[in-house]
Amino acid sequence: MGSFHRGTLRAYLQRLCNSPFQFLYILIQYVLDLVLSPTPPPPDTTLDRPKIAIIGAGLTGVSSASHCVGHGFDVQIFEAGSRDSVGGIWAKVNNTSGLQIHSLMYRFHPSVRWNNGYPDRKAIVTEIEKLWKRYGLQEKTKFETPVEKVYKDELGRWIINDPSHGRFDGVIAAIGTCGDPKMGHIPGQERFQGPIYHSSDLDGREGDAKGKKVLVVGGGASAIEAMEFVEHAKAKKTYILARSEK
Ligand SMILES: Cc1cc2nc3c(=O)[nH]c(=O)nc-3n(C[C@H](O)[C@H](O)[C@H](O)COP(=O)(O)OP(=O)(O)OC[C@H]3O[C@@H](n4cnc5c(N)ncnc54)[C@H](O)[C@@H]3O)c2cc1C
Ligand SMILES: NC(=O)c1ccc[n+]([C@@H]2O[C@H](COP(=O)([O-])OP(=O)(O)OC[C@H]3O[C@@H](n4cnc5c(N)ncnc54)[C@H](OP(=O)(O)O)[C@@H]3O)[C@@H](O)[C@H]2O)c1
Repeated sequence: MGSFHRGTLRAYLQRLCNSPFQFLYILIQYVLDLVLSPTPPPPDTTLDRPKIAIIGAGLTGVSSASHCVGHGFDVQIFEAGSRDSVGGIWAKVNNTSGLQIHSLMYRFHPSVRWNNGYPDRKAIVTEIEKLWKRYGLQEKTKFETPVEKVYKDELGRWIINDPSHGRFDGVIAAIGTCGDPKMGHIPGQERFQGPIYHSSDLDGREGDAKGKKVLVVGGGASAIEAMEFVEHAKAKKTYILARSEK
């Protein structure tokens, strides 16, 4: 047995002893993948079932496309962002974010495999990318193609933006709920001397917070993420402006 296999075996045995639930869950995920994941079609297969347009390459778009392709439907994914957008909102979360999703039960495809209790941004984006590649979706994704118009031709087939992309038998809108960041405005903020950042734009800002008094506006998950950032950046004092107790 090579050193890799010995190491892997040791890691599994350690996990079995230290976290029996996680160990069991890893086994369950293996079985779920084996039993429930549709088989990816071999490369260059002609998929002859109806053709579906999928709008968005986030977790929902990639998962929907994988299911469609796995069941013989051809797909075309339209993504407004660049290649870095595979994973949608999760691909845009701050690198500094230590936030994790609430549960390893958060699964968007039978092939998803979590190795740790609370999957973080990196684990989620990795799983989405794996899915995207496993079902050969690289060839079926058009980046930098924001969908602005969806309509039907005289035969009832869908056209996305204009006929140059072809005709489709169905459309799945997977455009997410978060949208682009929107900066609020506080009357008089122009007179404030320090920098003001949106919570989605904290990468590389540690220097601006170090030793400073920082105000975090809001009390949602993004605010928690900002508080964590401020703490790591070693701000002098942090104030939270939460207008409700939610
Ligand atoms: C930091 C963070 C943490 C979260 N944590 C959780 C959690 O713990 N649990 C939970 O359930 N949810 C959580 N969410 C909510 C999150 O919205 C979902 O988890 C999930 O990522 C949504 O995936 P989606 O594919 O539906 O949307 P998105 O990830 O938003 O992807 C939509 C994609 O569609 C593209 N798009 C949009 N409009 C167009 C258009 N007109 N044309 C072409 N492309 C377009 C976008 O560019 C984007 O890539 C979190 C969100 C954030 C920001
Ligand atoms: N799990 C994670 O790691 C994570 C991390 C980030 C985001 N997310 C998800 O992403 C989505 C968005 O989260 P979010 O935190 O960005 O937004 P959010 O949940 O809508 O929270 C926005 C916060 O800002 C406050 N607010 C809004 N406008 C304000 C104003 N004009 N003045 C003062 N306060 C104001 C809101 O107060 P009120 O409550 O009083 O309106 C609320 O506390 C959610 O689905 C969330 O679960 C998840």
